[in-house]
Amino acid sequence: MDHFLYKNGILHAEDVALPEIAAAVGTPFYVYSSATLTRHFQVFEDALAGLDHLICYAMKSNSNQAVIAHMASLGAGMDVVSGGEYHRARAAGVPGDRIVFSGVGKTAEEMALALEGGIRQFNVESEPELQRLSQVAERMGKTAPITIRVNPDVDARTHEKIATGRKEDKFGIPIARAREVYRLAASLPGLQVIGIDVHIGSQLTDLEPFEIAYKKVAELTHALRADGHEISRLDLGGGLGIPYERSNTAPPLPLEYGEVIKRTVGDLGCEIEIEPGRLISGNAGLLVASTIYVKHGEDRDFLILDAAMNDLIRPAMYGAWHDMVPVVEPAPGAEQTPYDIVGPVCESGDTFAKQRNLPAMAEGDLIAFRSAGAYGAVMSSEYNSRPLIPEVMVNGDQFAVIRARPSFDDMINRDTIPTWV
Ligand code: LLP
Repeated sequence: MDHFLYKNGILHAEDVALPEIAAAVGTPFYVYSSATLTRHFQVFEDALAGLDHLICYAMKSNSNQAVIAHMASLGAGMDVVSGGEYHRARAAGVPGDRIVFSGVGKTAEEMALALEGGIRQFNVESEPELQRLSQVAERMGKTAPITIRVNPDVDARTHEKIATGRKEDKFGIPIARAREVYRLAASLPGLQVIGIDVHIGSQLTDLEPFEIAYKKVAELTHALRADGHEISRLDLGGGLGIPYERSNTAPPLPLEYGEVIKRTVGDLGCEIEIEPGRLISGNAGLLVASTIYVKHGEDRDFLILDAAMNDLIRPAMYGAWHDMVPVVEPAPGAEQTPYDIVGPVCESGDTFAKQRNLPAMAEGDLIAFRSAGAYGAVMSSEYNSRPLIPEVMVNGDQFAVIRARPSFDDMINRDTIPTWV
């Protein structure tokens, strides 16, 4: 069930008409549906039913305090990748024992922060990181629970920039060296080995790479147990893809993904963690923009929006497709016109789509980008001195601004001019 539907000819977020939000906060803005966040969490809960598990929302996909607090209220844990995300999770009320700390470059300060504040586990990615964490924990008189992230050398068959489980990628330790690295971990003070971690990439639209990777994790579990390690927890990462292009084939469902998990690692008696981000927040959000101009070029028409690559970088960065729909429902059978849909930023890369068919658009018309709830607001910047755009959360017929648009002064006053200038 989709919570962004036309009602009486106007696109709504749940029961709120988007023009109503536009009138309140101006455009462009992000809007999130809490009912959709809840539903996506629930489909993973259903998919893992029967397994001892914790869903650790990958908050890098959308880390607004309201979104994290909503997820935590459903019972989600958090996957964090920086001191900033750890602070955000704690500030939203997530207890330390529901936070897993991932990432290839944790600093000693970040380790100390999490050890002090409480942590479920660190997912350690290298031998130098093992040494560093051991030193920090020992100095603090603490024990750090750890898994080691293994790199299974599996091609996730996704975009080059978001594949993470091949041997040429910077992530994890080569699975072939895992036994040796676990031996090192067990010998270091201040560490408690509790499991294995794997994450092979993002926006996977095929279950086979998961299946291959998880089988390797199952084999490794047996081998490590035979070596005398306690392996009681498996963190299987995130990565399940979402349908960005509705007219295209749909990626596998969480239920089918859950079956892969049960089939590959379900009988090991381990607690299972997963770290989904995009599947929870992606289709729970829209970016809504307004048309500044329709410009007739030499051989094409440009739809110039007030949103730009600084607000949503995915098309410029990954060539990503986002479905775009007019906020006023087109008449059935309305004629379609191809547009190049662009923003105002001064580079040609500021293009959301080329030759995309839409019903005729006019100045002032609102347009919604679908699937913009994940890796949208979090990856935005103020390039071209365009202030960060507001975020709004909807719940039934209510909405709240969950991040206000900064004023120009807010933006400028973050800088300081040295006295010598
Ligand atoms: N766990 C780890 C260790 C990760 O690195 C990631 C994503 C996730 C979980 C969550 O993956 P998800 O379920 O969201 O696929 N900015 C890119 C995506 C980068 C993903 C980075 N890691 C994009 O816009 O497509």
